[in-house]
Amino acid sequence: MAKILILFAHPALEKSRVHAQLLTAIRGMQGITLHDLYEVYPDMNIDVRHEQSLLLQHDIILFQHPLYWYSAPAIIKQWMDLVLEHGWAYGRTGTALRGKTAGNVISAGSQETAYHKEGWHRHTASEFMLPFRQTAALCNMQYIEPYVIYGTHKLNYSGISEAAIAYKQMLEQLRDGQLKIQ
Ligand SMILES: Cc1cc2nc3c(=O)[nH]c(=O)nc-3n(C[C@H](O)[C@H](O)[C@H](O)COP(=O)(O)O)c2cc1C
Repeated sequence: MAKILILFAHPALEKSRVHAQLLTAIRGMQGITLHDLYEVYPDMNIDVRHEQSLLLQHDIILFQHPLYWYSAPAIIKQWMDLVLEHGWAYGRTGTALRGKTAGNVISAGSQETAYHKEGWHRHTASEFMLPFRQTAALCNMQYIEPYVIYGTHKLNYSGISEAAIAYKQMLEQLRDGQLKIQ
């Protein structure tokens, strides 16, 4: 059974419709550590050694967040800037993350049809995650395709509940090695 670390970022969880339900669905799952970055670091004062130690204890690292301006909320950038140190995560002696897996779990206000070459946003969600993909590559990690919940603006409560159940099932399969990773 793989150990999964979810690095969760939502700057206003009290207003969240989607991620609040996703968290409720996955809380307490065996083998899954849910780490709420804005809750632990409201001042973005990240404890680098603690974060590195958490990374070492897990096999799969997932960034879970709403899509904000085609990217992630700011604390994830801060986390990457500080935690993925040269000589630790990358560089000649930086091998701490070698062989681990990374990925993004994102929610997007727009529909999937908007995330295409000919669509409103002109790129796929996967293409927007390029900095994550290449960061993973630099750290000798395998990057899995983003797990995207599209069209959140139009999802009602039961639609979000269905998405939360599907997310939980995906995590179980990922944890239990039943999900084919490209
Ligand atoms: C600052 C901000 C930026 C956003 N940028 C995008 C975006 O680039 N693409 C998109 O599809 N939705 C975008 N959205 C919509 C959010 O992704 C959407 O509201 C979120 O997935 C809903 O999740 P929540 O209910 O947990 O907040 C943005 C929302 C905010 C507040």
